[in-house]
Amino acid sequence: MRILVVGHGGREHALVRALANDGAEVFATLANPGMTRQARSIDVAPDDLPGLVEAAALLAPDLVVVGPEGPLVAGLADVLRSSGHAVLGPGADGARLEGSKAFAKTFLNRHGIPTARHATCTTVAEALAVVHRWGAPLVVKADGLAAGKGVVVAQTIAEAELAVRALMVERRLGDAGATVVIEEWLQGPEVSLMALCDGRRLFAFDPCRDHKRLQDEDLGPMTGGMGALCPVPGVSAAQVADWHATVLTPTVAGLQRDGIDFRGVLYAGLILTREGPKVLEYNVRFGDPEAQAVLPRLGLGLADLLLATAHGELDRAPRVSSHGVAVTVVLSADGYPTSPRTGDVLRGLEEVEAQQDVVVHHAGTRAVGREVVTAGGRVMSVTGLGCDLKHARSAAYRGADGIHFEGAHYRKDIGAA
Ligand code: GLY
Repeated sequence: MRILVVGHGGREHALVRALANDGAEVFATLANPGMTRQARSIDVAPDDLPGLVEAAALLAPDLVVVGPEGPLVAGLADVLRSSGHAVLGPGADGARLEGSKAFAKTFLNRHGIPTARHATCTTVAEALAVVHRWGAPLVVKADGLAAGKGVVVAQTIAEAELAVRALMVERRLGDAGATVVIEEWLQGPEVSLMALCDGRRLFAFDPCRDHKRLQDEDLGPMTGGMGALCPVPGVSAAQVADWHATVLTPTVAGLQRDGIDFRGVLYAGLILTREGPKVLEYNVRFGDPEAQAVLPRLGLGLADLLLATAHGELDRAPRVSSHGVAVTVVLSADGYPTSPRTGDVLRGLEEVEAQQDVVVHHAGTRAVGREVVTAGGRVMSVTGLGCDLKHARSAAYRGADGIHFEGAHYRKDIGAA
């Protein structure tokens, strides 16, 4: 099977690797140096919609897998489908679940899916009035896409006011902050629940967990994700069945009722409160770094599974199984997330990549001559695989300890009890 993967970060490297291992011939947009081991790079940016339509016409792939949310929100899946391609990724209508927080909250409430109380505000006066009426702590979210920078957990009214002004007056995130969603603050452990959706049916992956703060013990600034593990320890089959029944099944039913033919990855970010699971957010693609933990655990059949999803035929797909435990540790550059330093040479990669129970996924890397150098904030991730958490964790940290570059940082507590 010939597959074009759109995107070139850690999540897309995990997709490329898993699909190539499954026997597919893989192409990827502006492939990073890790991806070029398993895929041929094509010289088109993931947000160049006309360029991607042209590339797909030339390559004639059996399937296009869209990794990042931006092109989905911009309608990439729609233009590719109207050119006759099978695509894993929703059209712009379904991508609004991620592209607009206000839309997602209205959807959740309309379909009776549990979520935090919220107010959507289109003026500063309205937003400040909600902040004063509700008091702190509360959560201020930019309505639009913000690459993980659009959510502020405000512990005081002053912090909430600052967040509202930064988004709506200073427009720090541009138009993404023109509308804000203010939510009650919820407490509890978080879980990432991801499933393939073919418009009517679901294929759910084992629940996983990401770690969004930069430092151990969930301290420091929010990041794009510093680590993941799959499955989530201590979660019973009955709990997972409850999350499917409370969240995933009504989401698909709601999409159908709203006339949205959603064919792609449905990601519900859950918080497990005392009153039960509630949806914090939807994403419409694989999580990053969750994909780096979920995909290496899969047995054969991923390419057929994704193709069946794109064709609306999950009932005919192979039952792809998952094995063992995966722990993923992200290596970030000095200065990440505010101003990451780039250009530092990576050492030790080959030795780590040769380890049987370790998988390295590149993200912010670039080839310079025969060397690989850092080229972004999240440089790469190391996934350790094992029969249990202890073995997976030990493999992940053996791998992370073996890769060196100036200013390298990684959390030491991913998968710790
Ligand atoms: N790990 C969260 C995300 O991909 O948005």
